[in-house]
Amino acid sequence: MNYNFSKVVNNMKPSEIRELSKMASSPGIISLGGGMPSPETFPTKELMEIMEFVMENHSDLALQYGNTLGINSLREQISKMLDRTENIKCQMNNIIVNSGSQQGLYELGAVLANPGDTVITEEPTYVGAVSAFSANGIRMEGIPVDREGMKVELLENTIKKLISEGRKPRFIYSIPTFQNPTGYTMPVERRKNLIEIAGKFDIPLVEDNPYGQLRYYGEAIPCLRSMPGGENVIYLGTFSKVMTPGLRLGYTIAPDEVMEKFNLIKQALDLATNSFSQYVANEYIKREIIYKQVEINKKIYKVKRDAMVDALKSQMSDISTFSEPEGGMFVWLTVNKKIDTRQLIPLAIKNGVAYVSGQAFTTNETQKSSMRLNFTFGSEEQLVEGVRRIRKTINDST
Ligand SMILES: Cc1ncc(COP(=O)(O)O)c(C=O)c1O
Repeated sequence: MNYNFSKVVNNMKPSEIRELSKMASSPGIISLGGGMPSPETFPTKELMEIMEFVMENHSDLALQYGNTLGINSLREQISKMLDRTENIKCQMNNIIVNSGSQQGLYELGAVLANPGDTVITEEPTYVGAVSAFSANGIRMEGIPVDREGMKVELLENTIKKLISEGRKPRFIYSIPTFQNPTGYTMPVERRKNLIEIAGKFDIPLVEDNPYGQLRYYGEAIPCLRSMPGGENVIYLGTFSKVMTPGLRLGYTIAPDEVMEKFNLIKQALDLATNSFSQYVANEYIKREIIYKQVEINKKIYKVKRDAMVDALKSQMSDISTFSEPEGGMFVWLTVNKKIDTRQLIPLAIKNGVAYVSGQAFTTNETQKSSMRLNFTFGSEEQLVEGVRRIRKTINDST
């Protein structure tokens, strides 16, 4: 059969992360490549109890089709939780529960842009966002990131340039807290400017915040959605890093008129998110296990973050620069400009370590000398040894 694939799918590239995970699962390879939480943070015992409770008490609804926007009790719990943890004030009606925030990203592209339209992202940005936007035929214009996140001072001129080319951005996508892939966090002043510029040009602002609760150092910084002027920010959250990613639960907060469109697109995607998972998450918040679990995760990840940063300080500081994130799951490492980290991957695998190259997080082949390192999945020993193998790989290549 000769299949004529769509332009959209023909333009999509396989994710380096998915490709890597095949190689990285070989025995002996230390993978710093994926973005996985550590299984030791999974609240298995508590979830078993909750699952039994849900089956005993709610099986009629938990095993049934649910509302497209999500079960009401969970949406209420999310609203309370966000008030407590992020100081976000939002009504249950402005929350849609999705199959991971990844689905929320796809919906966003489908609802707010046409194929060929442009959106602004950070550069580098989350690969999953690149794939969700690409799957909607969207073009991306990246604003470079420095140690304080998106260089918002470049935003206004970029918007003006795009408008002059007839490509007014359909929305601005930012991960201001412990950004994936860099680990950088945007300070308050920049956040204010970001909100102001988006408002000035009347462009929807999207905040993706999967890591906000995972802060190991420093003072909390308000999320965009909770700041003055941020009431219309479209906000994406997830249970993946504070419960488990396997239950596939995320959510989006949006103004009423956007919510109506999300409802339509979600019906086309899967009718509704997994009811059973939603009942489980509902109890998980209601019983306040989530807040205890976040504290446990923070303890575990802080030690791992320190192990990786210390290893980088002792083994890599003479040949690289790297972020020292105050939270989240990733360190961004940049080596000599002459080194192409993607080309180095086969050698790294030979040396027993995997990472994701900087280019994977861009749409324009920049960030060639950088790599993203995950510190949440491996053990402390593996993280230290993984850094040693990266050093060896760089040495072997020069
Ligand atoms: C910035 C960002 N957004 C969204 C996601 C997707 O999360 P999920 O679909 O598991 O909720 C991730 C996952 O790593 C992420 O890093």
